[in-house]
Amino acid sequence: MARVYDYPELLIPHPTPENFRQLWKNKNANCPAPSGKVHLEIGCGSGRNLIELALANPQDSFIGLELRYKRLVLAAKKIERQNIQNILLMRERGQFIDEYLPHKSMDCMHINFPDPWSKKARRKHRILSAEFLSKMHPHFRSKGELRFKTDHLEYFETVTDILQDLKTYTIIEHTTDLHRSEYNENNILTEFEMLFKSKENPPIGFLRAEVL
Ligand SMILES: C[S@@+](CC[C@H](N)C(=O)[O-])C[C@H]1O[C@@H](n2cnc3c(N)ncnc32)[C@H](O)[C@@H]1O
Repeated sequence: MARVYDYPELLIPHPTPENFRQLWKNKNANCPAPSGKVHLEIGCGSGRNLIELALANPQDSFIGLELRYKRLVLAAKKIERQNIQNILLMRERGQFIDEYLPHKSMDCMHINFPDPWSKKARRKHRILSAEFLSKMHPHFRSKGELRFKTDHLEYFETVTDILQDLKTYTIIEHTTDLHRSEYNENNILTEFEMLFKSKENPPIGFLRAEVL
């Protein structure tokens, strides 16, 4: 737990909109080209996807949200070791991110293998709901996009239906078997995805939706 305080410029263990804004401003001031895209990953785990994206897109800026301290510290360690400057981590629930980000401030929201809350009575805890997607809509910039992956195909189909009903997002890419699809070429394996692949290798749903 103490380790979460070891990365004051990189990891915010107890965020408020104020301390987030200050650190985000500092981070972007240090970035070589802060005019790039802003990405948010909710439930970034120990950061594999975020790090790969940040290395491949040094002109862009990345915010990673995660609830588990241990995973945040693992991510921070890797980011510091590789001297990556364009990532900021926060211990925060994705459901509250609208309190931190101004309207029209985000280009891409990544949600990979979120907790599926499989039991019917618990589905209200899912991060991807009609309510959350509507709440986040004004926070996207024009041509913003949502990228979502899961091995839980019922959750995947439910989110697909929600996006179609909302009419404020349009699905551009969609597959229920990512690893055997045309989209696999550009896919970055997350930690959970690597684990799945090495075990039962279930089909994975992937979608990319543009914000209208
Ligand atoms: C199944 S793991 C997937 C981790 C990572 N995305 C991957 O694919 O390897 C889900 C992660 O989301 C985090 N999480 C769960 N609910 C969250 C929430 N409401 N906001 C942010 N993170 C959350 C969990 O702590 C966990 O690390």
